[in-house]
Amino acid sequence: STAPQDSVSLPGDPDGVAEAARLLRAGQLVAFPTETVYGLGADATDPAAVARIFAAKERPRFNPLIAHLPDLAAARRQGRFDAFAEALAEAFWPGPLTLVVPATDGTTVCDLARAGLPSVALRVPGHPLARDLLAAFGRPLAGPSANRSGRVSPTSADHVRADLDGRIAAVLDGGATRVGVESTVVACLGGAPRLLRPGGITRAALAGVLGREPQTAEAEDTARPVGPGLLASHYAPRARVRLDATALEPGEAALLFGGAGPDGLAGARAVLDLSPSGDLAEAAARLFGALRELDATGAPCIAVSPIPGTGLGEAIRDRLERAAAPR
Ligand code: TXA
Ligand code: MG
Repeated sequence: STAPQDSVSLPGDPDGVAEAARLLRAGQLVAFPTETVYGLGADATDPAAVARIFAAKERPRFNPLIAHLPDLAAARRQGRFDAFAEALAEAFWPGPLTLVVPATDGTTVCDLARAGLPSVALRVPGHPLARDLLAAFGRPLAGPSANRSGRVSPTSADHVRADLDGRIAAVLDGGATRVGVESTVVACLGGAPRLLRPGGITRAALAGVLGREPQTAEAEDTARPVGPGLLASHYAPRARVRLDATALEPGEAALLFGGAGPDGLAGARAVLDLSPSGDLAEAAARLFGALRELDATGAPCIAVSPIPGTGLGEAIRDRLERAAAPR
């Protein structure tokens, strides 16, 4: 048996991208930056490589992976796009949108990556390093968020190493991610499009393209959710998370929004404000890093100030509600 090796840190330049592509072609795991969060990359066409993702993340195998592609033309070879999917892809790719569509007969995304489903989740990311990597690799790149299953998603290479060092071959370092919450997942499987996961593209932006609000997937908090990964408890730091806190218990860590603090702030273990000016995009970009930072203080509970559920606030609140859900 071999001892786990430290994961190599690859620079976000052409040499780093070339080495990342070489490792991926050899069936290895390479974490890579996207504009949302870091992905845990593996060759989506290779079941042995994809199996390494599930092992490294300790992810249940019923939870399918997103395949990342360089452009819409490449995506059309993997999935069948109806008029809704076409319109959404044209409007938001490259960008923080994932489309769940019926897989084509010729799809090269392996069964394991799709968790045996007849559908496939496709995304064309906008991050320049992700795009360079996809161009150099030349195959669909499976990429769940690069965290251990159920934990807080990574928005920096350091976050990836904290969760996965020694379990993956390398991390391509692109610095901090811009959006900070994952892609919006929309299913276009016939009939009306359904919003499976709020994310970096807002509900209002989707409605602007679709001409009406997407349906919201139901039963997200049941044992068998519509999106298999949408389990109630997720994004969880070690500390408990308490939402819409207007008063603080002594020793709690406080996660503020918009400057105003809860009563009892003087007794806080630690205080962070996601956006003193009340900017939801700034708050989304800081969310996962702030949860990790407050967790590291050892506080038993993170009390979160009220955050509006509009715009990007829907995705922020979704992640916080899952972080606060019973485990
Ligand atoms: O922003 C993102 O989407 C990041 C970056 C790396 O691209 N990736 C990401 O992947 O968040 P992951 O695996 O953490 O979340 C993918 C979500 C899961 O909830 C999964 O269940 C859902 O997409 N999903 C994947 N394939 C699906 C399918 N065929 N049907 C329904 N849901 C699917
Ligand atoms: Mg994830």
